[in-house]
Amino acid sequence: MDRRTFVKAAPLAAALPLVTPSGWLKDIAPSVARQLDTLSTAAATLPDEAFWREVRREFTLNPGIAHFNCGTLGATPRVVLDAISAAMREIEGNPSPNVFGPVGARMEDVRKQAAAFLGADLDETAITRNTTEGMNMVADGIDFEPGDEVLTTTHEHHGGLVGWEAAERRRGVRIVKVPIPAPARDSRQIVEMLQAAVTDRTRVVSVSHVCTITGIVMPLGRIAQEIARPRGILLVCDGAQAPGMLEIDVKALGVDTYASSSHKWMLAAKGSGLFYLRKEVQDRVRPTFLSQGFAPYTAATGTRNVAQIIGHGVAMEFHERIGRARIAARCLELRNLLREGLATLNGVRFLTSDAPELASGIVSISLNRAKAVDVAAALSAQDLVVKVIPIAEYNGLRFSTHIFNSEVEVGRLLTALRELV
Ligand SMILES: Cc1ncc(COP(=O)(O)O)c(C=O)c1O
Repeated sequence: MDRRTFVKAAPLAAALPLVTPSGWLKDIAPSVARQLDTLSTAAATLPDEAFWREVRREFTLNPGIAHFNCGTLGATPRVVLDAISAAMREIEGNPSPNVFGPVGARMEDVRKQAAAFLGADLDETAITRNTTEGMNMVADGIDFEPGDEVLTTTHEHHGGLVGWEAAERRRGVRIVKVPIPAPARDSRQIVEMLQAAVTDRTRVVSVSHVCTITGIVMPLGRIAQEIARPRGILLVCDGAQAPGMLEIDVKALGVDTYASSSHKWMLAAKGSGLFYLRKEVQDRVRPTFLSQGFAPYTAATGTRNVAQIIGHGVAMEFHERIGRARIAARCLELRNLLREGLATLNGVRFLTSDAPELASGIVSISLNRAKAVDVAAALSAQDLVVKVIPIAEYNGLRFSTHIFNSEVEVGRLLTALRELV
């Protein structure tokens, strides 16, 4: 697909209004701000490379680094770092009155922003440290009976699985893993495979929103409608790879719980996560942090990293200022460019499906001749940062594309790969 076709196929939705602006976004470079002010949010056009070059200057990535591993950790823009550092200094001027007073109170504004970002209500939203924490809270909070089943897939990240593994050891839960093909044919194939593995003991379906191995977008809406809701099965979603890359609306997805890491695609500081627990199922998931629920500060969760949470809010504002739809389209645009180039290489096979409804800002390949770890090391020596897929039999590499990447970097990566694979 060329750029024009892609752009036509991805009209931009109207940008969401800024929620509780913190004032930090006035500090983005005037060149970026000016262009953002003149871009039409409704027009089916993406800004050109010159605009994205200016955006890249908002990041403190080392010059020359081509960071294609946002799926592991994103890069945090300067405005977010500045907001965190300013909040830390403010706190330290008079620690306890600040943390338990006006500075700490800003965490609640961030929670409101987070609820709007996810499409959730405030009393369904919590600020966590990461996806693993959120997924563990769900697994730990369910009253399982021995023999209850958790239906999941062979492509989940360990962070989304450890809670179920603990429930298996401690409470006799059975974990059933559906082997997702790589590449998957389409969303129907995935729904049918999960459907076929449901039994009358299935209590939970636990899947990623965007798969950490292949980058496919799981058909959550269909899984909710065709599998989980009609049977009263809890649909638990590991959203580590999605917010900040895709526009999220947890209600439209139909999930019951959603745990994510904002230090990946949302570009917040490391150790920032969001958690959603649908009101209607809150009686089925007890809060792990004891009696007072999931808000950022409660007597049950204790003192929090207030400055970092304030920065988390600025990261969300950064996304809204650039435009969430525009970011989603840019991630996909670069990923499509990369995918087209990868298709011309000898010695590689796609692990990522080519079904358009499964496409995200991630593409993964398996190498036929070279060793993935060696290729990743050789790329790293050229400042090209990629991820080795942790399933040995795939001998694969995963590439993530975000707004700090460029067409030039994609070209560099392809040139290097052509030599190495
Ligand atoms: C799908 C998925 N779940 C969970 C995690 C773990 O994320 P965190 O370490 O932020 O909890 C990752 C990290 O790559 C992931 O890709």
